[in-house]
Amino acid sequence: MELIEKLGGWVNASQNIVIFTGAGVSAESGIPTYRGQGGYWDKYDPKKYANINYFHKDPSYYWSFFKEVRAPVLKKAKPNLAHESIATLEALGKIKSVITQNIDGLHKKAGSKNILELHGNTRMFSCLECNAEYRLDQVNKLLEKSLPPECDKCSGLIRPQVILFGESLDPIILSRAETDSTQCDLFIAAGSSLVVQPAASLPIIAKNNGAKLTIINIDPTPLDSIADLVINISASEVFSKIVQRIES
Ligand code: APR
Repeated sequence: MELIEKLGGWVNASQNIVIFTGAGVSAESGIPTYRGQGGYWDKYDPKKYANINYFHKDPSYYWSFFKEVRAPVLKKAKPNLAHESIATLEALGKIKSVITQNIDGLHKKAGSKNILELHGNTRMFSCLECNAEYRLDQVNKLLEKSLPPECDKCSGLIRPQVILFGESLDPIILSRAETDSTQCDLFIAAGSSLVVQPAASLPIIAKNNGAKLTIINIDPTPLDSIADLVINISASEVFSKIVQRIES
């Protein structure tokens, strides 16, 4: 509790907080993380299931993973206490932006507004030929007809609006994330193993520009040694207690 109290004091004193999230924040919504026990990459090789070159070579790998594994989980997933608490902190004027690696769209569903989705959003899709856009429910219907799903308009191949391995991040989103990380006075990284670049450089940018760095993660991360505070407790417990503290 002492560590959460300390973070609560920093949140109270700050007006320019960046919250950086990873898969661990959505774990309590029933969406598996990627690494560590029971993570997606434990069972599915990301070189095949989440790589742009493999997607072009044989898109059925991505789409069978999506249809059998990801879509059913996404359909059920709801924001948890961590997402809701983060949205409350933003509504209280405490947060500059939520920078997320997550592609599940749960921050938006929880009511967060200023969200930077570094790795895209898996609830949106587009045709590689004609750029027609599709929502999750529409793609699920197309997947009943064929796998990979074909564009209704031109029969082209449809892809998710996510950043696959081997692709660069959107430069505008990345540059905004770097600016917010440079300017914040408190950077809170939650539920991320902090091993995937360039996202994992943002906590370092914040620290190098004078921000206090807090890491909330069940497992240790490679950046724990430069953090001002490390809390190995679930994100929903920490953020909900911070909100309680501020609202009391
Ligand atoms: N609260 C806090 N931390 C948690 C919780 C929880 N409830 N549950 C799990 N964790 C932690 C784990 O300890 C783990 O270190 O969340 C971390 C999730 O790490 P990863 O699975 O590596 O997820 P992430 O860091 O978001 O991955 C980054 O890698 O595969 C790519 O594009 C994908 O965006 C993803 C990127």
